Amino acid sequence: MEKVAILTSGGDAPGMNAAIWAAIKLAAVNGTQVVGVEGGYDGLIDGSFRPLTKSADGGAGLRPVAGLAWTAGTGGTFLGSSRCPRFLEPKNRANAAAQLREAAIGGLIVIGGNGSLTGAHLLALEHPDLRVIGVPASIDNDIGGTLDALGVDTALNTIIDACDRISDTARSHHRAVILEVMGRRSGYLAMASAVAATADAVILPEETRTEDEIRARLEELIRRSFAPGSDKRRVLIIKAEGVAVPTTRLARQLQDQLADIPNVTVRATILGHLVRGGHPSYHDRMLAGRLALAAMTAFHDDHTDLMTGWNSPIGTPTADANVRLIELADMVSETKAMLDGSSPIVQRRIQLLNKVREVLAL
Ligand code: F6P
Repeated sequence: MEKVAILTSGGDAPGMNAAIWAAIKLAAVNGTQVVGVEGGYDGLIDGSFRPLTKSADGGAGLRPVAGLAWTAGTGGTFLGSSRCPRFLEPKNRANAAAQLREAAIGGLIVIGGNGSLTGAHLLALEHPDLRVIGVPASIDNDIGGTLDALGVDTALNTIIDACDRISDTARSHHRAVILEVMGRRSGYLAMASAVAATADAVILPEETRTEDEIRARLEELIRRSFAPGSDKRRVLIIKAEGVAVPTTRLARQLQDQLADIPNVTVRATILGHLVRGGHPSYHDRMLAGRLALAAMTAFHDDHTDLMTGWNSPIGTPTADANVRLIELADMVSETKAMLDGSSPIVQRRIQLLNKVREVLAL
């Protein structure tokens, strides 16, 4: 009987559990045993495995082990995750491959972000006897070759909810609020949430402005917004964590610079890890099922070194019109271009944002 392992790696993302659950069920109906790897790549190197399928009662078929169904609608990852510097070393990747072979496991599904999928690419290159397939999952949406990664939609819903809440209190006090959101080097969460939450401004790492320039623009925005005759009661500024200006310092300095305007205060809120948790949205659960289906199909079709991509302009089509199979090498190069700003996708996003920037501030 064929066996596949599954692991989650890097920052957890809502929808990871839904993807694992879908993969278990899809494998079981194909008669493939699923083995869960505990704790990401660390667990793989150390051979920390647990069965996720068992023989169906009295028959030759398979079914998920008991007690897992509830996980599909939960955030985080029930398998556990890790940042694993050890996996950067070829000898540790060789140990991981040896653990899979020893357990008679023919392939590995990696659910994670761009670092985890780069690790999957190296494992596939160095150990072509194993079938390695990636599923993109990261709230940052900074993975090349997929329009959406697991967790992005849920994270955006959480941020928008926070924006609505903070706007309630800001309007009551005539306040400007700088809200920092996660995203590592990517400004996607900040940009998308700013538009959806009708923020007044957004500060992105992809635009290389100095601290002085950022402060000057925000001071001008707040003065204009709270000028006599304006009926604005709150100014919401969303700042991506990748912008190398401390949010609390920015708020403090703006407050000092605006001391001459009566009754206007500036506050800072950092959402941090809160944005990573919570039940996955409909979109993330739907994405999890469809990306898992394409991943399990690729495994059964004997493919390796691929990732499943959502509405990607590159890659090869699958039976699902919205899902393509992307070479992991292409994911690596596309990700690099996204992060250094040379990707046409990122450039188009910024151009579009610049067109509506003045509208945001109205
Ligand atoms: O990659 C997801 C992410 O949440 C980033 O947005 C953030 O910069 C980072 O992980 C935080 O990492 P950690 O959980 O290790 O603090």
